[in-house]
Amino acid sequence: MNHGYTYQAALASSEAINWRIEDIIGGTKRLDFSKPFMPETFARVDKLPFLNDEEKRILNQIRGNIYLCIFGLVEEFILPFVLDHARPQLQGDDYRVRALLKFACEEAKHIQLFKQFRREFEEGFGTDCAVIGPPEAIAQAILAHDPLGVALTTLHIEWMVQRHYVDSIKDDQELDPQFKSLLRHHWLEEVQHAKLDTLMVESLAQGRTEEEIMKGVEEYIEIGGFIDGGLKQQVEFDLDSFERATGRKLTDAEKDEFRSVQLQANRWTYLGTGMTHEKVLATLESLTPKARQRIESISPVFS
Ligand SMILES: [Fe+2]
Ligand SMILES: [Fe+2]
Repeated sequence: MNHGYTYQAALASSEAINWRIEDIIGGTKRLDFSKPFMPETFARVDKLPFLNDEEKRILNQIRGNIYLCIFGLVEEFILPFVLDHARPQLQGDDYRVRALLKFACEEAKHIQLFKQFRREFEEGFGTDCAVIGPPEAIAQAILAHDPLGVALTTLHIEWMVQRHYVDSIKDDQELDPQFKSLLRHHWLEEVQHAKLDTLMVESLAQGRTEEEIMKGVEEYIEIGGFIDGGLKQQVEFDLDSFERATGRKLTDAEKDEFRSVQLQANRWTYLGTGMTHEKVLATLESLTPKARQRIESISPVFS
C-alpha cells in the first residue's frame, strides 16, 4: 500500500512530541464543571428534549468522563498486543523495535493519565460514575482473537481518535479547555500509533490467503460486537450515574428514549467513526476489496 509510513519517521515524530503527564494535568490545571466536555455529535444530549440545560451539561460531562475511561480500557489490550508484536523481532530493524516500544510506552502513559483524570473528575463532579470492566477481563477477551482481528481493532481505534479530535473537538470553543487539552495531547501521540498500526496490520496479513484475511476481518467484527455489548451496559451505568448526579428520576418513557439515543450516540462514537474512517477502509481494501465491502455492509448500523 502506498501510504509512505515508516518506523523511522513515526519514531522521529514521537520523539519530537514527548509530553509528560505532570505538564498537562494536576496543580492549577483543573476541569471546569460549568462547561461541556464532549462535542454534541458524540454526547447527543440535545436529542433528549425532556432534560434542562443543567441536566444536559451533567450528562455531557458523564459521557466525557467515560470517554477517557473507555480509552484507558482499550489501551490495556493495545499495550500487551504491541509488546507481543515487537518481541519476536527484537534482533531485526532497530527503528521498528524502538518505534513499537515507544508506542507501548506511550499507551502505558495514557493509561496512567486516564486514571489520574478519573480521580480528578470524581473529586470535582461529586458522584461516582461506573464504567464497564474490569480492564483485564476485557483485554483478555479481545486478545483471545486472531491477531489480525486485534490489529484491525487497534487500527480502528487510533484512526477514530484522529477523527474525533480533528473533525469535532479542535474547533469546538464551548468545551472545557482543560478537558480539550487532554484530548489534544492524547491525539498528538495517537497520530503515530495509527501509522504504526497500519504497518502492523500489513505485516500480520502478509502471506495470508484471502480466506485467512477474511477470517481476521470476521474476528474484527466479533470484537466490535463485544464492544457493542459493553456499550449497552455502559448506557445503563450512565443512566444510573445521571439520576444520582442530578437527583432526577426519569419516567419509564424517558428512560427508554435515553437508552435508545445514548446507545446510538455511543455506537457512533466508538464504532461508527472508526468503521467508516477512510484510512481504515483503505487499509482493508489493500488487504482485499472483499474486506472493505464486508465492513461497509454493516457500518450503517453504527451511525
Ligand atoms: Fe493512547
Ligand atoms: Fe494509541
